[in-house]
Amino acid sequence: MQQLSIIFVLLLLFERAIGQNNRNEITIPPSQDPWYTAPVGFESTSPGTILRIRPDPSNINTIVDAAAAYNILFRSTDTRYRPSWAVTTFIVPKIPLERRNVTEGGADDGKAALLSFQIPYNAASTDGGPSYLLATNFGLSGPGITPMTSYITNALGRGWYAEVTVPDFEGPTAAFGAGPQAGHAVLDSIRAVLSSEEFNGKLEKPRYAMWGYSGGSIASTFAAEIQASYAPELDFAGAAIGGIVPDLTEVFRKPISNVSSVIPAGLLGVTAQYPTAREYLVSQLNPSGPYNATAFLQALNFSALQSIGYFGSQNISEYFINGLDAIYEAPELVRVFGDNEYQGYHGIPQMPLFVYKAIHDDSNGIATSDDLISHYCKVGVNILYHRNTIGGHEDEFINGIPRSFEFLSDVLTGTYAEKYNVTGCTWVDVTINVTGSATSQC
Ligand SMILES: *[C@@H]1O[C@H](CO)[C@@H](O)[C@H](O)[C@H]1NC(C)=O
Ligand SMILES: *[C@@H]1O[C@H](CO)[C@@H](O)[C@H](O)[C@H]1NC(C)=O
Ligand SMILES: *[C@@H]1O[C@H](CO)[C@@H](O)[C@H](O)[C@H]1NC(C)=O
Ligand SMILES: *[C@@H]1O[C@H](CO)[C@@H](O)[C@H](O)[C@H]1NC(C)=O
Ligand SMILES: *[C@@H]1O[C@H](CO)[C@@H](O)[C@H](O)[C@H]1NC(C)=O
Ligand SMILES: *[C@@H]1O[C@H](CO)[C@@H](O)[C@H](O)[C@H]1NC(C)=O
Ligand SMILES: *[C@@H]1O[C@H](CO)[C@@H](O)[C@H](O)[C@H]1NC(C)=O
Repeated sequence: MQQLSIIFVLLLLFERAIGQNNRNEITIPPSQDPWYTAPVGFESTSPGTILRIRPDPSNINTIVDAAAAYNILFRSTDTRYRPSWAVTTFIVPKIPLERRNVTEGGADDGKAALLSFQIPYNAASTDGGPSYLLATNFGLSGPGITPMTSYITNALGRGWYAEVTVPDFEGPTAAFGAGPQAGHAVLDSIRAVLSSEEFNGKLEKPRYAMWGYSGGSIASTFAAEIQASYAPELDFAGAAIGGIVPDLTEVFRKPISNVSSVIPAGLLGVTAQYPTAREYLVSQLNPSGPYNATAFLQALNFSALQSIGYFGSQNISEYFINGLDAIYEAPELVRVFGDNEYQGYHGIPQMPLFVYKAIHDDSNGIATSDDLISHYCKVGVNILYHRNTIGGHEDEFINGIPRSFEFLSDVLTGTYAEKYNVTGCTWVDVTINVTGSATSQC
């Protein structure tokens, strides 16, 4: 049943050790690389401070045809607002926008552009991060799989700088589903990149925008909500968010679905920074029988592919003494889900949003998306909301790519106001199907 949903899982989730069997031979796994540690005293630096920077060792600049690529380890803040750190890969285009004239796609004011791309994957495990696995496309290849790097190549070809962030936590805490943590990491990665030598003092205020689909959109949307309070000096040109997941518990309440195989990793991940909640969760697992705690806890060490293989055909509810529903109702866990898995509570996005979603999204229904967008519209957020009548969750990822690039290009070159409504919300039902042409590229 779940054989075909590998890309779906990658899109929706951030998994801790995916691609372990395909890891880049050249580089050292982050878990064994002392570079991936925060220097002593990092807690006292301000969020976004660059703690370490090095040329990217994974050959990513050749793969995406870039002038240079760096890994930056920077100070950030965890989901419980405690000092933490994260890593981004920052990639420099060969001919940046600010050196292009308008006919070459440059902005008429000569400003630089930076895309913060939230890969649908927010691994908390250091060995699962894009800084390590992007060069191997997270170990995924084969028919129908377009490498994530192709979108970065596209962005760089337009002259945009690009950065790809993932929260990388010290130790083995897979904080999957921890929305505020992901938001903090994205905002701090932009602070770090803007303060790097490529930008700082050299370039006039660049424009920057975010792009994320599915699990990636969770990071972008939390960043958009948290920005005004956490990083008020930032001024985003826009954010494109697709396949949005306003309520992650909606996805994870279904004990049998295309992504139910990652519920164990999801529940363990969201409780990773809450020891009492984790203890309670584990206490609710059956001690024996075929669906028991030992089997469930294997998810701590499984890659997404291994989770599909092991949990894919199971009913996840069977692992719990009182079933899966009881987990989502337990007072011991409700606040953890509440603080981490719901959008619309952490602030008001200040930048223009392009939101796109398949009306028949099979991962989480359109209703919570409509609710979130209404909620934002009520308080004056500027949104273009496309509801696509065609396809499901995976299809909309492909179908949304041309529209995302169009929006991002407009916000990053300063032509947004000429082409879009700059105030209020525009809701449109669209009928867009580019999946045929996209698939044929693979
Ligand atoms: C823009 O750059 C291209 C390529 O260098 C050049 O051919 C063209 O004349 C330039 N256009 C303007 C308006 O400067
Ligand atoms: C899995 O995904 C496919 C394709 O989107 C969908 O048709 C099917 O109903 C899904 N299966 C389950 C069990 O949700
Ligand atoms: C736990 O589940 C696994 C897999 O079904 C099984 O092999 C093992 O014997 C079970 N352990 C207990 C204590 O029941
Ligand atoms: C995960 O793997 C580590 C290292 O191999 C091992 O020590 C640990 O017991 C494993 N944990 C689980 C829950 O299987
Ligand atoms: C899944 O397991 C739960 C708990 O055992 C059970 O109540 C439910 O009916 C099962 N669902 C399906 C579709 O078999
Ligand atoms: C701007 O808003 C109007 C009124 O809602 C709508 O008809 C129009 O299509 C919107 N334009 C764009 C470019 O979204
Ligand atoms: C979308 O396009 C593909 C390829 O042309 C086609 O196979 C598919 O049926 C189309 N989907 C819909 C819902 O029209």
